[in-house]
Amino acid sequence: MILEDNRIFESMFPSDVLPKVYPKEPTPEEKSEIDDVLSSNIFNVMLNRRSQRKFEEKEIEGWKIDIIFAAADTAPTAGGFQGFEIYHLKNTQLKQSLIKAANSQPYVNAPLVLIFCSNSSRIKLNFDAEVLHKFSIQDATLAAGYAQLAAHALGLSSIWIGMFNEQNVKEVISTDLEPSSILCIGYPKKMLVPKPKRNLTDLIHTV
Ligand SMILES: Cc1cc2nc3c(=O)[nH]c(=O)nc-3n(C[C@H](O)[C@H](O)[C@H](O)COP(=O)(O)O)c2cc1C
Repeated sequence: MILEDNRIFESMFPSDVLPKVYPKEPTPEEKSEIDDVLSSNIFNVMLNRRSQRKFEEKEIEGWKIDIIFAAADTAPTAGGFQGFEIYHLKNTQLKQSLIKAANSQPYVNAPLVLIFCSNSSRIKLNFDAEVLHKFSIQDATLAAGYAQLAAHALGLSSIWIGMFNEQNVKEVISTDLEPSSILCIGYPKKMLVPKPKRNLTDLIHTV
């Protein structure tokens, strides 16, 4: 592929990508697993993802968490200003409070809990506050979507939580930022098959 400035872009191989997604020195075992993950086919990942609410109690490897963060950070954002923040909730007491804040949904107590918040103050575009707010919610939502796909590519499963009391979640993580979604990730008790969807012909409206 030729870039705008006539440089030839050679597709990135895992070894080139590795420092971007995992800026530490991986062990040889980690490196071979990371290479496999980085070669995964995005369509397989998208087509096989399924929400999961039953997780093993197994801890998630640090390198997998790092790759999920790096993936979230690849999402497009309004003006490239990254108008979102990710809260990685580790504290077990706070996790219990988060379950309550999320309509007492027990699976919120997953091995990895990420709260995506919009942060419109990062977006230095000359638009109304309302527009910037809308942009920042979209930024946070897209980042969570990318993280969710990355989790699946890493052999993990997840559940997207949208049902929560915003104020209570803010109190749990001590922020004034608006939470847009909670992503609960872990090793699935059983890998589920994807849910059927409506026909694409019903979904697409050509105008
Ligand atoms: C905006 C949004 C909010 C959601 N909120 C919840 C939730 O609060 N609790 C829950 O168990 N699942 C929640 N889900 C997960 C959906 O139930 C799930 O994605 C849907 O049933 C489709 O299944 P699939 O993800 O396996 O395709 C939410 C998903 C989205 C996109």
